[in-house]
Amino acid sequence: MRIAYSTRLGRLIHSKAEDALSSSALKRYEGKVDLIFTSPPFPLNRKKKYGNLLGQKYVDWLAEFALKLRPFLKKRGSIVMEIGNAWEPGRPVMSTLSLRALLSFLDRGKLLLCQQFIYFNPSRLPGPAQWVKAFGDSEVGTKSSQG
Ligand SMILES: C[S@@+](CC[C@H](N)C(=O)[O-])C[C@H]1O[C@@H](n2cnc3c(N)ncnc32)[C@H](O)[C@@H]1O
Repeated sequence: MRIAYSTRLGRLIHSKAEDALSSSALKRYEGKVDLIFTSPPFPLNRKKKYGNLLGQKYVDWLAEFALKLRPFLKKRGSIVMEIGNAWEPGRPVMSTLSLRALLSFLDRGKLLLCQQFIYFNPSRLPGPAQWVKAFGDSEVGTKSSQG
C-alpha cells in the first residue's frame, strides 16, 4: 500500500482495495463515509490483465467487499457501484453473473438496493459485435441458438 499523492482534500492510495480497506490507516474513517463510489472489475468471461476472477469465484469475491465496505458507511450512507454486463463465451447469451453478483453483494452486506441506473448509449453499436453481425439482432440470435 502506497500513498500516490496527497492534497489538503485527501490522499490517493495505490493498493489492492482489500488491503487498503483492512489497513489501520483507514480505521479512523469507519462509520464516517457518506458515499463509496466504485467501479470494480466486471464479471467477464475472459481474463483481463489485472487478474479478474471468473464465475462463482467472482460472485464470492465481490460479495466479500460488502462486508469490508459496510463498516465505513454512515447510518444513511450509500455505495454506488458500476457493474458491466457480460456474455457467455461462444453463444449470444447474456451472462447472469452481474445480477447474481449484485444480489450476493446485497445479501452479504445486509444492504438495500435503492435504485438501478441503466447506462444506455444509443450512439454505441449493440454488442457483442460477432452476434449482432451474424443474426441481425441479439434477441434473434438467442432464440436461434436454442433451436
Ligand atoms: C472495470 S475497471 C474500472 C475502470 C474505471 N472505471 C475507469 O474508467 O478507468 C476495474 C479496475 O479495477 C482495478 N482492480 C482490479 N482488482 C483490484 C483490486 N483488488 N483492488 C483495487 N483495484 C482493482 C483494475 O486494475 C481496473 O482498473
